[in-house]
Amino acid sequence: MSGELSPIDKAKFVAAKRAADYVEDGMRVGLGTGSTAAWLVRCLGEQVREGGLRFKGVPTSTRTADLAREVGIEVISLAEARWLDITIDGADEFDGDLNLIKGGGGALLQEKIVATASDQMVVIADIGKEVEHLGAFPLPIEVIPFGWQTTQALVEETLVSMDVLGRQSSLRMNGERPFVTDEGNYILDLHLQRIGNPRQLSLVINQMPGVVENGLFIDICDAVVIGYGDGRVEVRDINEGTVEQDRLDFLESDNLFTDLAD
Ligand code: 5RP
Repeated sequence: MSGELSPIDKAKFVAAKRAADYVEDGMRVGLGTGSTAAWLVRCLGEQVREGGLRFKGVPTSTRTADLAREVGIEVISLAEARWLDITIDGADEFDGDLNLIKGGGGALLQEKIVATASDQMVVIADIGKEVEHLGAFPLPIEVIPFGWQTTQALVEETLVSMDVLGRQSSLRMNGERPFVTDEGNYILDLHLQRIGNPRQLSLVINQMPGVVENGLFIDICDAVVIGYGDGRVEVRDINEGTVEQDRLDFLESDNLFTDLAD
C-alpha cells in the first residue's frame, strides 16, 4: 500500500480506529486477521507506543502475531490468556442479525476459537460487507488434508438437501499448491450464492468427518463497527439494540502505516 488511501481502505481504517476505543488497560484482547484487522492492530500499536495503553493481545494467525509484535503489542497465547475480554476482527459478510461469514483470509478456525472464548466479539467492516442474506461470498470450510476429495464430495452431496442456491466447491490454492492453514489443514470454498438457513447449515457441515470448522459465525458477534469511505462510522450493538453514528476525521498523518504490509 502506498500514497493516498482508497475509499475502501479509509472505511476500514475508520472502523478499526473507532473499534480501538473498546480496548482498555489490563484487557486480554483477541486480534483478528485480514486487512481491516491489520488496521486495528496498527491503531492499537500506536496507542501502546504513544498513549501508554497496556493490554495483552491474542492473535488469530501467525500473520497477525508478527504484525502485533512489530507494532509493539504484547502477544500471549490463548493457552496463557484462557479467557478474553474482547475480540475484534473483520468479516467477509455480516447480516442484520450480525451473523457472519469469515475465513476469506484462511484463519477461520483460530478466529472462531478466540472469538468464542471472549466476553464480547466486535466486528469491524466497511459498509460493502453488509448483506441481506449470507452466501454471496464463498463460505470457507477448513478440512483435514487426508481424503479431502472425499470430504468435498460428501459436502457437495449434503448441500442438495440444504437451503442454498449453489453447490459448487473449490479447493483454495496458493499458486500451484493447496493453501495450507496455520493448523496444517486445507480450505474448501463453497459457492452457495444464498444461504437460507445459516444456523442449520453450520450444524450440518460440522457433523461431517473431515470437516474441522466452517466460516459461519452464528450468535457470536455482539457489535459491528461499520466504516464508510467519507469517515462516517456506525456502531450497531445487537445486545443493547443501539445504533450510534459518528464521524472520524481522516488526517494524512493517520496514513502513517503505508509502508507496512498487511
Ligand atoms: C480472515 C477473515 C477476515 O476477517 C475476513 O476475510 C475479512 O478480511 P478483510 O478485512 O481483509 O476484508 O475472516 O480469515
